[in-house]
Amino acid sequence: MLNATTKICAIIGDPVAHSMSPAMHNAGYEVLGLNFAYTAFRVNGEQLHRAVEGIRALGIRGVSVTVPHKIAVMEYLDEIDATALKIGAVNTIVNTDGKLKGYNTDWEGAMRSVEEGTSIEGKTVVMLGAGGAARGIGFGLLQRKAKKLVILNRTAEKARELASEMGVEYGNLDELKERLAEADILFQTTSIGMHPHESETLVPKELLRPDLFVTDAVYNPFETRLIREAREARCAVALGYRMLLWQGVTQFELYTGVKEAPVEVMEKALIEHLSKK
Ligand code: ATR
Repeated sequence: MLNATTKICAIIGDPVAHSMSPAMHNAGYEVLGLNFAYTAFRVNGEQLHRAVEGIRALGIRGVSVTVPHKIAVMEYLDEIDATALKIGAVNTIVNTDGKLKGYNTDWEGAMRSVEEGTSIEGKTVVMLGAGGAARGIGFGLLQRKAKKLVILNRTAEKARELASEMGVEYGNLDELKERLAEADILFQTTSIGMHPHESETLVPKELLRPDLFVTDAVYNPFETRLIREAREARCAVALGYRMLLWQGVTQFELYTGVKEAPVEVMEKALIEHLSKK
């Protein structure tokens, strides 16, 4: 039951009506008996600055930021965490007595999803894609001390730009075979394989071998063609929805101060929400 001391958290974005975050966070508050509530506010670009001032004015405790505001929101904050600054995107705002600090939990969510199955330090990673998602994931892999990162992208020029910023190698998708031959981890960050194009994959099945760890950022469907074929090739895998879960878990801990979020309960809420789509 909400009352005068309930701490409010929310997600802002446009569109935002189908966000999984309210279900995930509220399930966590409920099981821990926290006097918190999490909702969604649809905010367009024109309103963004005033919306951020509203966070301060109303004392909203935590705000998740989604498309299209992750970059634009940064200029309105008081402080930005070093990794979020490097990535150039914020998906989380924590309000401490009117001071707004921005974080990026997307990269950490991605790393935690891989680390459930394998360590990253010292590994050679091939990352497919060079868009917004790849940026956070790439910096995350370096933060976790991957030994070597190779960015492969349909448009090699975009891979080159990102790779030069990160000081890593790059190429186009024609190099997949030779690059995968030396890789420990494959991280697929493009939208290939996403509903309604479930039959698509960038990776020929014959390139998958049991000692390659395969992870796909696509979470709809839960199991993409890439993940299915990787399993058939006896690879260990990480499913895309785990990234969503872990980025939310990190946010939950930042907003509430709870050291260990109730991961299973949040996972159940997330899966229920995604299954309804
Ligand atoms: P996001 O923020 O989700 O990463 P994005 O910034 O639009 O989205 O990036 C999309 C990524 O998917 C890019 O790496 C894109 O490759 P290009 O740079 O060549 O456009 C990749 N992508 C999208 N459609 C693709 C396709 N049909 N084949 C190969 N790569 C594709």
